[in-house]
Amino acid sequence: MNYRHGFHAGNHADVLKHVALMTLINYLQTKDKPLFILDTHAGPGRYDLASPEAQKSGEYRHGIGRILGAAEVPEALKPYLDALRAENQGGGLTAYPGSPLLLARKLRPQDRLIACDLHPKEAEILAETLYPFPGARVRAGDGYAAVKALLPPPERRGLVLIDPPFEKTTEFADLAKALREAWKRFPVGVYLVWYPLKDRAAANALHADVVAAGMKDATTYELYVRDPAASPGMAGSGVLAINASYALDSVMRTAGPYLAKQLAQGPGARFTAARLTAE
Ligand SMILES: C[S@@+](CC[C@H](N)C(=O)[O-])C[C@H]1O[C@@H](n2cnc3c(N)ncnc32)[C@H](O)[C@@H]1O
Repeated sequence: MNYRHGFHAGNHADVLKHVALMTLINYLQTKDKPLFILDTHAGPGRYDLASPEAQKSGEYRHGIGRILGAAEVPEALKPYLDALRAENQGGGLTAYPGSPLLLARKLRPQDRLIACDLHPKEAEILAETLYPFPGARVRAGDGYAAVKALLPPPERRGLVLIDPPFEKTTEFADLAKALREAWKRFPVGVYLVWYPLKDRAAANALHADVVAAGMKDATTYELYVRDPAASPGMAGSGVLAINASYALDSVMRTAGPYLAKQLAQGPGARFTAARLTAE
């Protein structure tokens, strides 16, 4: 468990994932009914971009750093950028909010957030980050176990974010298994799953598993920041959404091509949206 998201906070992958996340939460909150939110792999929640980790990798500069101050930004990015500005009230870009903080700030009195992290230190920082939010609770432990323990939620309306670190070679398989389990327990839930674009076959296998499991309304939104054939490593990332195309499709199809242009790190940068299964 060496992964620390602090090295990557605010990078192109976070931008893609958090644009989708903010779009989904805003859409789900157009109804007054209580909403349950589960963040299975939450991280510490807030990142200091002046920290040695963030400065060492500098990844945020080629992610949110290219967007927050950009002259022209599509309206589709507004909820995400508003959240970023709320975190950087002095102006500039010094802090990056992770998924649990983005979600906690959106909680209404009737909503509930459970955020998990397996790493004891990250879970401890996460508890401090979420302390001011009465509707948010930290579960220190395995996010995949939380899926089993907490779904379906009594609210019957829910958003589940699954955002593993992909440190382990079995992560794609573990993720596919957990997603099947989650969907079987709670088929009307809205799911957002992040995955790296490093090994095309592994991403395709995840897509195939979703189709084989019979999940309806599955869509993927993928952002390559460079040509994957140019060099090994992560050339981009994707989000897989279940039961969310009505909320995400038009926003992602507007935001995606802009992100591909703005976040390009070389030739071959591109965005694709694909429907895996019908509603
Ligand atoms: C990619 S980061 C999360 C970033 C966060 N979701 C965001 O968008 O800001 C993945 C996190 O998962 C944690 N982690 C690793 N394995 C886990 C597991 N089985 N269950 C829960 N958390 C885990 C790591 O400690 C790390 O903080």
